[in-house]
Amino acid sequence: MLLYGPAGTGKSLIIGAVTQQIIELCQSKGERFGVVNINCQPINTLDQAVYELVQTVAKNVNAEIGVPETGVSTKRKYRRLYKLINEHYDSVIFILDEIDLLVGRRANDEPAYSKLLYQLSRASNTNEIEGRVSVAALTNDPKFMEDIDGRAESSFNPRDVYFPDYDATQLREILENRRDAFRQNALTSDVIPLVAAFAAQSHGDARKAIDLFRGAGDLADEWGDGEVTESHVRESQEEIDKDRSLKLVEGLTTQKKISLYATAAVACHSNRSRNSVPSPVGFNVYRWITDELDADQMTRETYVKYVKELSTYGLISSSRKSRGRGGGMYMEFTFTGDPKAMMKRIVDNTRLEAIGDQEDLLQTIVNSQSRELHNQ
Ligand SMILES: Nc1ncnc2c1ncn2[C@@H]1O[C@H](COP(=O)(O)OP(=O)(O)OP(=O)(O)O)[C@@H](O)[C@H]1O
Ligand SMILES: [Mg+2]
Repeated sequence: MLLYGPAGTGKSLIIGAVTQQIIELCQSKGERFGVVNINCQPINTLDQAVYELVQTVAKNVNAEIGVPETGVSTKRKYRRLYKLINEHYDSVIFILDEIDLLVGRRANDEPAYSKLLYQLSRASNTNEIEGRVSVAALTNDPKFMEDIDGRAESSFNPRDVYFPDYDATQLREILENRRDAFRQNALTSDVIPLVAAFAAQSHGDARKAIDLFRGAGDLADEWGDGEVTESHVRESQEEIDKDRSLKLVEGLTTQKKISLYATAAVACHSNRSRNSVPSPVGFNVYRWITDELDADQMTRETYVKYVKELSTYGLISSSRKSRGRGGGMYMEFTFTGDPKAMMKRIVDNTRLEAIGDQEDLLQTIVNSQSRELHNQ
């Protein structure tokens, strides 16, 4: 099987719950059904993955691992795995959670997950495993199967099970079942519907819905309020949004970070109203910073393009402005969040630290650049 769908849609939970039911069903019939569940996220190589499988089976059946972690071939680990399974189970399911993350070390090789899927799903055809074998691969990468299909030797022909985003009604039910996390009568009646509505609107991810639910409770606690209300939910959602947009910044390229930093600096330091940044001022500050850092300098068009791009993440908004009387057009950028927090996030752990230490100088540059535009 291939279980795929976006984050927090219940893939890991459901496969666990369903296999648990099968274990119980088989037990009542005297069949030994083995569930070998590993998460591939921390695993780097095929060899490690096979070792992890051995370790998991050994733990399940209370046996010795029987093979060292390093210094022996992957083949020997497979052999140990099959031996343990043949001795203890009549049938087995391998659950390979977050399979797409098992890529192996070398980028150009066949990815480790491809080999692992091939070998496990073939193990019963070749009689290496005597009983029946199923393989369930879990992923939230929608392109995953395309990649597998492109590999000729793959014998993994899964039945697809798609996990779509949860809607508000489903999220409400999931949250209702977690009422017991709160003191009796602590939840006012609109809390669960509101959390479900927020979550359904933005992602349909049960994990995030639960986080928001808990966050609202934490806030009520923190503020010493006796009950959790709509305002706790709203505030908690705001905190989450803020944090998310700041995390986004970390993934930007250096040039984009510098562009954003320059723009944020203008928003913070200038005396202009409401954080708004005219692109010519932003660009001049950008140029000053690239000089200071001895970094490449992009053209004004590129700078504007980079900053505009960030509006697609909802970090800033941009609009066209006229200088008036034949003075041409320029862009004006406005921050949705706190530009100061953004600057701080950018200087942490980047080359821009050098600039972060020159607050006063930066302020002077920003002021003079702002005046210049004003006088034009
Ligand atoms: N149908 C459900 N009923 C109750 N809780 C659920 C349900 N679906 C998901 N959850 C809860 O939401 C959280 C996320 O679910 P789960 O880990 O199964 O998602 P996933 O699809 O595996 O996500 P990812 O792709 O990020 O691994 C878990 O805490 C889980 O218990
Ligand atoms: Mg999961």
